[in-house]
Amino acid sequence: MIEKELYGIASLHGNKGRKVSKYTLSSEGSSVTAVLCDYGARILDIRVRMPDGSVRSAVLGHPSLGVYERAPGYLGALVGRTGNRTAGGRFSLDGKEYTLFRNDGNNSLHGGERGFDKKIYKARIRDSAEPSVTFSAVSPDGEEGYPGELRYSLKYTLCGNGLLLTYTAESDARTVINLTNHVYFNLAGGGHIGKHLLCTDADRYLPTDRELIPTGELKPVAGTAFDFRKPRRFSSALRSGDPDIATAGGLDHCFVFPGDYTKARRMKRHISVVSPEGDLTLNVSTDRPGVQIYSGNFLGGRRFRLRDGSPEKRRGGFCLETEAFPDSANRREFTDIVLEPGRTYRSRTLYAFVTG
Ligand code: GLA
Repeated sequence: MIEKELYGIASLHGNKGRKVSKYTLSSEGSSVTAVLCDYGARILDIRVRMPDGSVRSAVLGHPSLGVYERAPGYLGALVGRTGNRTAGGRFSLDGKEYTLFRNDGNNSLHGGERGFDKKIYKARIRDSAEPSVTFSAVSPDGEEGYPGELRYSLKYTLCGNGLLLTYTAESDARTVINLTNHVYFNLAGGGHIGKHLLCTDADRYLPTDRELIPTGELKPVAGTAFDFRKPRRFSSALRSGDPDIATAGGLDHCFVFPGDYTKARRMKRHISVVSPEGDLTLNVSTDRPGVQIYSGNFLGGRRFRLRDGSPEKRRGGFCLETEAFPDSANRREFTDIVLEPGRTYRSRTLYAFVTG
């Protein structure tokens, strides 16, 4: 079932006066309800029905459209054209230099000034046993400094007890692309994330410099605080004193899944996280070569409100941003994020929940 309602009237980021809708996806066979919105193609909420009949919100959200427009945390948003940081806010392609908007010191973060998180999308609804909403838009040639007119979409499908994210994009000229979603999970429904148990088969990670730009090294996790190949609590890494964690102010690193990251990959489960009480598990499957594991280190900086009216708190949520490697536009030895005209970019990630 899909319920569509007016969510609010936009007032910022070039959207003034435009209507924003929210979409609630549910299904008889699913204990998960997803609430989406066409501003930033966002996930507003993922509600999980627990075995005792209670309902738990497993992701962070703000209380209103106005807060989403003002808060800088990208809660639940589609991020693009390129997720994470592009060093120096520039890259070159085919001998031409492209300048991006520098919205993070000297660097460009999450697509620039008016990234994909700030657009209002066209929505196509498909109501069935697996209801879906496809958000789509056209990014004009040169938007935020990126070459090529890009037609792109993000489809959310309620599949079993999970939410499947399917991204597509096509460009009329060679360009770069690295789409992701910035939803913050908190499987306890609130509080500090420290006691969540994280497990991922990622066997390497990308250390960063002080500006959070990958240094270029692919470092094995073995023997470091980044080794989550056996389940460990977030807090064990955050408190480890590891120099790379100290430099980044917490976990804010691209973890690299095993296998060849230069080749197309099949959808595979790579991450699971268990709530502090052990009553809710999130399993993440993806065809991306890596994931930015971000422990919400910047949350709470300006204390924007959360859905329940409480202020956002540092480390009150974690993101699992499945992606190609950050700054790949400048590091051709990293993942290939060039999209050729006539080709289709496709990427899939499933966030699936298990209760009990
Ligand atoms: C990403 C980055 C973080 C931070 C957040 C947004 O996850 O890796 O450093 O910029 O987005 O607050």
